[in-house]
Amino acid sequence: MNKNIKFYINIKTIENPDTYTVLVNKFRSLKEYEPSDLKSLSYNEKYKLREEAACAFEELVNAAKKDHIFIRPYSAYRSFAYQTKIYNEYVKKDGQDLADTYSARPGHSEHQTGLAVDVWTEGQEEILEKDAKWLKENAYKYGFIVRYTKDKQEITGYIEEPWHLRYLGKEIAKEVVEKKLSYDEYYHLYIK
Ligand code: DAL
Ligand code: ZN
Repeated sequence: MNKNIKFYINIKTIENPDTYTVLVNKFRSLKEYEPSDLKSLSYNEKYKLREEAACAFEELVNAAKKDHIFIRPYSAYRSFAYQTKIYNEYVKKDGQDLADTYSARPGHSEHQTGLAVDVWTEGQEEILEKDAKWLKENAYKYGFIVRYTKDKQEITGYIEEPWHLRYLGKEIAKEVVEKKLSYDEYYHLYIK
């Protein structure tokens, strides 16, 4: 992947950070935005999403359970300050070029919107392949998409993240999946 040469240029400040369809990527910054309706997820108080996304996520987890898929959140809302902290740690560990392939710079993470959640298989420190497959095939029914896929790495600027779910609402999540687009592409074609 072409690392950060073509990214983080002509950065725009996001004007509508509170909309559920907000596009956050390497060209669009949330600055220090904080959502006002964060709600703790029922499994663990420390993980929060915006209210509608939190309800939808619980619906997804319950539906997965019926299919014997047990998933748990391990990261949800992250503040600008927290993203700064972890991004700096990754840069220190791996160097900026590599860190940029898997971590957003502060202001550029979907986690800061309160609409993104990372999930693991219960009892594991990863997402098992069968569970990732279930998410790929079913998450849209609850309003989520798997945001960073292998086939869209050049567009998103991130390596594949089968664990990172982004809430968009049921209607748009379904369309993004049906059209086989990254959310970046979908946004520019249908939302902007
Ligand atoms: N790992 C994703 C890209 C983030 O840092 O938001
Ligand atoms: Zn994530």
